[in-house]
Amino acid sequence: MPSFNLGAPINTALLLYILYAVQRILFPPASAKAKSIPTEFKHGYSWMPKAHPPTVLFTTYTPKTLAPFNGKDGGRILLAIDGTVFDVTAGRNFYGPNGMYGNFAGRDASRGMAKQSFDEEMLTPIDQPLDKCDDLTPEEIENMKGWYDHFANKYIICGKLVENDAI
Ligand code: HEM
Repeated sequence: MPSFNLGAPINTALLLYILYAVQRILFPPASAKAKSIPTEFKHGYSWMPKAHPPTVLFTTYTPKTLAPFNGKDGGRILLAIDGTVFDVTAGRNFYGPNGMYGNFAGRDASRGMAKQSFDEEMLTPIDQPLDKCDDLTPEEIENMKGWYDHFANKYIICGKLVENDAI
């Protein structure tokens, strides 16, 4: 039976190479670290992002805490439909300050979605209790649910909307 002989030059060479390869993986030289995200293998062997990718935390909002997310500062844009908060930042063209539906940004858009109107009077003032929408017709509720499904398919659900004094 052949035995492993460390004294044989080929084994010594292989062992040295393995030790070298392992230390390259454990302690990669600065030159092996890609400065940008590699798109091909040769751009870097051990690439790590500088920071963890941004995460979205499911958050409980009130009308008052939701209001600042109106995109006017160039930041995130959130809106609520039927108690669910959507991150619609990707739809800045629609909901940004110059967007056709900019009124909904940072607000509870339920009534506007139900009644197919982006008029100011569709919005409940942020210091008032939540709009119960209990005067809406079944068709209007259906319309709102249709929009809800559209948003759920397109945007990220990032929280729920509760009364101002609930948290
Ligand atoms: C003058 C009448 C209107 C025109 C010409 C219009 C036009 C449009 C267009 C072109 C889109 C983009 C569709 C797409 O690319 O997916 C859109 C989306 C939308 N519209 Fe209208 N719209 C009108 C009225 C309204 C009204 C009254 C509402 C009130 C609720 C409304 C709410 C929306 C919403 C919520 C979206 C989806 C945006 C998104 O996907 O984030 N639209 N509209």
